[in-house]
Amino acid sequence: VNEILFGLGLERRSGPALRLEQRAAGGVGCVVWDAALVLAKFLETGACPLARRHVLELGAGTGAVGIMAATLGANVTVTDLEELQELLMVNIENNKHLVTGSVRAKVLKWGEDVTEFQPPPDYILMADCIYYEESLEPLLKTLKDLTGPDTCVLCCYEQRTMGKNPVIERKYFELLQRDFELEKIPLDRHDEEYRSEDIHIVSIHRKRAVSPQNPGGFGFLGRDLKAPLIPPPAMGRDTFH
Ligand SMILES: C[S@@+](CC[C@H](N)C(=O)[O-])C[C@H]1O[C@@H](n2cnc3c(N)ncnc32)[C@H](O)[C@@H]1O
Repeated sequence: VNEILFGLGLERRSGPALRLEQRAAGGVGCVVWDAALVLAKFLETGACPLARRHVLELGAGTGAVGIMAATLGANVTVTDLEELQELLMVNIENNKHLVTGSVRAKVLKWGEDVTEFQPPPDYILMADCIYYEESLEPLLKTLKDLTGPDTCVLCCYEQRTMGKNPVIERKYFELLQRDFELEKIPLDRHDEEYRSEDIHIVSIHRKRAVSPQNPGGFGFLGRDLKAPLIPPPAMGRDTFH
């Protein structure tokens, strides 16, 4: 059942392509989704400094995004359900000669205890993780449990118009905005080739508590950018809709 379906070569700006195995069967995580390609190639643009940064990928599937981050110098933990661990380890092994940071695979089921993943990482990466309703609350809990004030969550998703997808997407972003500030990364900041009008990357930070010293809370214009993980000029300033 778990025979190799086909390998995928994900080209890189410098050096050999990533070699990613996919599976014929085993659920949605067994293939590389377009959102993963877009996010992996966005990381290569250099918009986010990754060298020596602590990175956690949620719902990593094949590990394409996290492994790309590790080739850019990040120390990465790619996470997914138990059934994806073997595929993650195969892909880590296949690409270990390209990794300049580090990369390991771990089980992380959304909503469950995340103590072992503390302290909060510099980045959390998510590609195509918003797709079924029952996962929304657990996924949001995991994001809240894992993020610190300086954690940057990069969430890449394909906007789908079929079935319940638009409702799920809307609900996810509504719930998310209770605790987080969102900024859409403009399309012209994505990789020139690996971009698409219907695939979005959203940069997400925790809202800061409102205090006398910070009367605006974590509103975009009032944000303390003393250590931005994505330099503002490279980001664009679209508000998220
Ligand atoms: C559509 S796939 C995307 C895989 C990969 N990020 C990509 O874009 O190629 C969604 C991923 O989320 C994972 N996932 C779904 N529910 C999950 C849960 N409750 N906890 C952890 N991972 C989950 C799946 O196993 C799958 O790998």
